[in-house]
This record gives sequence, structure tokens and C-alpha cells, in this order.
Amino acid sequence: MLFTREELMETVKERVERCTACPLHLTRTNVVVGEGNLDTKIVFVGEGPGEEEDKTGRPFVGRAGMLLTELLNEVGIKREDVYICNVVKCRPPNNRTPTTEEMFACGHFLLAQIEIINPSVVVALGATALSFFMDGKKVSITKVRGNPMDWLGGKKIVPTFHPSYLLRNRSKELRKIVLEDLEKAKSFIKEG
Ligand code: URA
Repeated sequence: MLFTREELMETVKERVERCTACPLHLTRTNVVVGEGNLDTKIVFVGEGPGEEEDKTGRPFVGRAGMLLTELLNEVGIKREDVYICNVVKCRPPNNRTPTTEEMFACGHFLLAQIEIINPSVVVALGATALSFFMDGKKVSITKVRGNPMDWLGGKKIVPTFHPSYLLRNRSKELRKIVLEDLEKAKSFIKEG
């Protein structure tokens, strides 16, 4: 029997809601699975939910999310046309970086989401998302941003700075770099 992408994603959500594989489930208000168009060819992956995301159950709705939406618009991408999610689905207390154990306890949900959507490009927003796609290796985002990496199933991973980093470093140059990376990611979209 064939399932629709919506049905498959719903089962991921149900599994995330039942998950107790790491301590983050103890302190979360809501799980934040992801949202957007399941037929998109481009997926954006952040680190993990922050305060607003934990409150609402939606990814990237706080300040970093507003900036992400603005940057996407600037390169002609409508937020509702793409899929946005995170490596970890529960908020790390005080917005700390998720541990490697938390990241890999949760990561199979992200892999399932990518398999359901089957995009041609995944944009890794920041060092945590990038390290997930590099099997936990810590790589300097400054060194590799904008350089597409081949990943499973012919997909490209395009790393760029996390929007929170841009909020902390409000330079025109940095913003321009991220916009260039997003344009590059767009160029790898393969339709069909
Ligand atoms: N930062 C993230 O990495 N993800 C969110 O959903 C919000 C802020």
C-alpha cells in the first residue's frame, strides 16, 4: 500500500511526540518537527527549537526565523514553498547547542523526513546541522560555507551561516555571503 508524503510525515510526528530517547523530552513544551511544502526540492535544516519554537511547535518563528524568512524572500524563495526543520526536535534548555548524543538520538527523524521529501538540495544552517551531515565531524562553517557537498542519493548539502549568527554579527558583507549561498543552493534544485 502506498502512503502519501503527508501521511508518512504524520507518522514521523507521532513518533517524535512519543520519543524519550534523550533528556530533551523532559524539558520541552512542544516538539518542533518541521513545516512546509512536502513536494519541495529544497529543505532547510537548523539546529534545534528556541523559545518561540518550543512555545508554538513551529520551526524558525522567533527572531532568527524572521530573518531566515526575509533572506529567503530576498532570493525569491517563499517560506511556504520549502520545508524547514531542525536536527533536534525538542528545545535544548537555555538554547544551548545540542550534544552529539542528542543530535544522533534524534537524527533518524531528520533522515526520515529527508527520505519522505526527497529534495535535491539540503541547506545546512550553521555548524550543528553541518556536523550532523558530516557524521558528527566538527568543521568550521566559515571555511566550508557555500561549498556544496555530495550526499546520499545524489543530493547536495549546501552549508551556510545560521541566521542567529547574522543577528549577532550584523554586517552587510555577512548578509551578502548568506544570500550568495542561498542563490547557490537554489541553483542545485532539480525539478522532476
Ligand atoms: N534556531 C534553530 O536552529 N531552529 C529554529 O527552529 C529556531 C532557531
